Amino acid sequence: MKMAKAVWEERYQAGRTGWDRGGASPVLSKWLRHASDSERRVLIPGCGRGHELAELARRGYEITALDFAPSAVAAAREALAEHPHCVVQEADLFHWEAREGTFDAIYEQTCLCALAPDQWREYEHRLFDWLRPEGRLYALFMQTHAEGGPPYHCAIEQMRRLFPSARWRWQQEPPLEVHHPMDKVELGLILTRC
Ligand SMILES: C[S@@+](CC[C@H](N)C(=O)[O-])C[C@H]1O[C@@H](n2cnc3c(N)ncnc32)[C@H](O)[C@@H]1O
Repeated sequence: MKMAKAVWEERYQAGRTGWDRGGASPVLSKWLRHASDSERRVLIPGCGRGHELAELARRGYEITALDFAPSAVAAAREALAEHPHCVVQEADLFHWEAREGTFDAIYEQTCLCALAPDQWREYEHRLFDWLRPEGRLYALFMQTHAEGGPPYHCAIEQMRRLFPSARWRWQQEPPLEVHHPMDKVELGLILTRC
């Protein structure tokens, strides 16, 4: 089931945001240890309230974030208030075009699993187009092992088909297991755009 902007906005207004940790994911600091100096321009689609944005902005990254729920955008803009080099755009990611070229990295956290699976192929194309060649996708694949959603189960075999090796190089190391506040696990993997 596709979730409309109004439904997400209503969740923010009602405080039904079980996915929100109230702070940056612990995976971020682990990943930042491996980030390369050439990764400066970072995109965060479906950014929510923007806890990770604030953490990245503090470290000097140039962030562009987007979300279509006005309450999430307002909170994310507040989180970035002291970082004018970063922007949060209120936009539907399926209609948004990057105006200033491509990104070095994308942080994907509970956006893919929030989209209906019949939207995933188009989302993968967008992620690919938003990244420069050799840019990296820092992906957290939600594991629910349940039917339906959101959040939708992002089975690794299905992710391998969605992000095929002709377009994406998968890390050799096993994924990081990240505890999610909805009592679930996310699998953290870094994919490099070919
Ligand atoms: C489960 S929440 C995750 C938010 C954030 N990434 C986090 O981990 O806290 C999914 C977010 O994606 C946004 N979203 C869903 N579909 C979207 C779309 N088509 N365009 C832009 N944002 C979208 C929702 O408004 C919501 O803020």
